[in-house]
Amino acid sequence: MLLSIPDVLTAEQVAHCRQRLQHAGWADGRITAGHQSAKAKDNLQLPEDSEVARELGALVQEAVQANSTFFSAALPRRIYPPLFNCYRDGQSFGFHVDNAVRYERGADGAAQPVRTDLSATLFLIDPQDYDGGELVIEDTYGMQQVKLPAGHLVLYPGTSLHRVNPVTRGARLASFFWIQSMLREDSQRRLMFELDVSIRRLTREVPEHPSLVQLTGVYHNLLRRWADV
Ligand code: NI
Repeated sequence: MLLSIPDVLTAEQVAHCRQRLQHAGWADGRITAGHQSAKAKDNLQLPEDSEVARELGALVQEAVQANSTFFSAALPRRIYPPLFNCYRDGQSFGFHVDNAVRYERGADGAAQPVRTDLSATLFLIDPQDYDGGELVIEDTYGMQQVKLPAGHLVLYPGTSLHRVNPVTRGARLASFFWIQSMLREDSQRRLMFELDVSIRRLTREVPEHPSLVQLTGVYHNLLRRWADV
């Protein structure tokens, strides 16, 4: 399932991120690329341990954790600390699949594995301010091109082949990260998301309907059966 989630960041938060990123110390994006994807990758990235990456990463993580659509679609178990990248002057990232497991360094130096069930890209520049830079994702239904307003996020299965088209004018700034979900399978996450959306709509429109209690029970009992926590 490929899902766009609007307004994950407010206009003020987007402006703050852009202002901080403008003066940040960018590095070659190959620092986090796997062996295979390093050949396809040409962009700039903030080093994970930089102060700006940590500060803005915490801001993004807090925003997604407060977003009910994100929670419902991802059912996150672990979120890899958000990273930041920049494409400009024709830079691009050819077709690749992200590494299956990322290791998050804890405060004690121990590495915590995060299985990348889902990938997320949070756009920080409005589409009219740069040319190219579409995120192209191979979905079950074919190729999807994604280029969202600043502050919006796209969530897609970590199993997907994807690329970023060359940026031929301006600069494309984004935050990107991975999520280990309580549900490993995309098909299960999709079912749970559709069930949750339906329950929420019924709760708004027919709040007294007795079947709502039963349906909510079905949701939680399916989650209990499938969840890996
Ligand atoms: Ni990727």
